[in-house]
Amino acid sequence: MWQKVESWIRDQITLLFLRRVASTPRGQAHLLQHLANAESEGEIPLFDVVAEYMERAWKDEGRAKLARIHREDETRHVGMLEGEIARLLKNPLEAQLPESMSFVPLLGERLAPIRKSRIDSDQDVAEFYSALMAIEVRTAHNLKLFAMAFRENQNDIGAQILESIANDEIRHQGYCRSILGRCEISPVDLGRTLRKWSLIEAWAFARLNALDLEFTSHRGLLPLHAFWVSLARRAAGAETQRALRILEREVR
Ligand SMILES: [Fe+2]
Ligand SMILES: [Fe+2]
Repeated sequence: MWQKVESWIRDQITLLFLRRVASTPRGQAHLLQHLANAESEGEIPLFDVVAEYMERAWKDEGRAKLARIHREDETRHVGMLEGEIARLLKNPLEAQLPESMSFVPLLGERLAPIRKSRIDSDQDVAEFYSALMAIEVRTAHNLKLFAMAFRENQNDIGAQILESIANDEIRHQGYCRSILGRCEISPVDLGRTLRKWSLIEAWAFARLNALDLEFTSHRGLLPLHAFWVSLARRAAGAETQRALRILEREVR
């Protein structure tokens, strides 16, 4: 019960900020650029690698196909998001973000088993798909909030794009579940791997949020009184610390 209330409160706070940022085309482009970066970074080439493993080790054409559809969807999403940025801004390059604000590299060395760009075992598949699962769950949820903020700011085209991507991300969660269910690792190891990646993702997301608050307020993308901005910065900093503490306590 309390968790539901807490997540509702979080959503309301997130929406408060999203609405403000989405009140200008520059702000909307900024939000879309974050999503486009997250879609295009890092993991796309791994879908082929994991598909080949499933064909080779599992003789499972069906699941290999899921991995390839997933990759095609993510590539298509990048195109949809970039198309919308180009519609909003005369110079779409304006929306580009500094490299330090990329989500997947933020996962940094914690992505090591994935970064080796090889899938040699069912445990590797489970690592990759647990990371994806954590990302898909958050993205699907946040995309709906983004869509609300766009709609409230009269960008129905943008809102539709975001909603359609959100629906794909929900479908991807089903792909993740199907593939994780096929991995020959013990339920305990699977549970541990899922939990590990959900904590890593939560930490990286909190960190990105804190960086983004700095960025949007400096660039004038967050039309909000300085008092609220400084309060939000402090809250974001505390949230990052909290996520890091939990991560360090639970993940060796
Ligand atoms: Fe996507
Ligand atoms: Fe996805």
